[in-house]
Amino acid sequence: MPSCEFVHGDANNWLQTWCAGQDWKAQRAVVFLDPYGMSVAWETIKAIADTHAIDLWVLFPFAIGANRMTPDDMLPGKDWAVILCKVFGTSDWINQFYKRQSNTDLFGSQHDSVTKIVGADEILQYFLDRLRTVFPHVVEKPMILYNSNNSPMYALCFAAGNVKGGKIALKIASHLARTR
Ligand SMILES: C[S@@+](CC[C@H](N)C(=O)[O-])C[C@H]1O[C@@H](n2cnc3c(N)ncnc32)[C@H](O)[C@@H]1O
Repeated sequence: MPSCEFVHGDANNWLQTWCAGQDWKAQRAVVFLDPYGMSVAWETIKAIADTHAIDLWVLFPFAIGANRMTPDDMLPGKDWAVILCKVFGTSDWINQFYKRQSNTDLFGSQHDSVTKIVGADEILQYFLDRLRTVFPHVVEKPMILYNSNNSPMYALCFAAGNVKGGKIALKIASHLARTR
């Protein structure tokens, strides 16, 4: 058996098929997802979690991706909204990230407005909460990666799929995440 195999193809499709096709009673794995942008589909994360046998490292672009795709005073356009739904695996982010208000002015006209009520940190927390819906163990404080101007870009998140074995993995990963 080769020790290394390079596969060309769409990583979301490949991982979902691979996760569903292995016998996870007899093996364990570590997956590292290293995207530039918002390209990891929630279905991929769910497929990994469903094995209950994989430890996942995933670089989540909370600041340069999700935060920038959510404008302050209006909802994202359709294309970005579709990507956000694909990445979070739900459209619930709209209710968590935005407050809708309806005000009536002195002349009785109604004005609807939408305001973003979260920043990058809350968006990261939302992603971690999403991970917690499918993984038994998720690192509480992921390592934040900054650009040369010291602005946050990505969070290196860790989640362990196995209820029993994941506890020690979480301990080690939490330690690594604090070592910057
Ligand atoms: C940050 S780079 C990965 C760098 C790599 N880990 C390394 O150390 O060289 C992200 C890569 O993922 C690729 N990519 C993005 N979406 C993908 C997908 N759905 N399937 C496969 N590759 C994808 C991009 O083309 C890019 O080459």
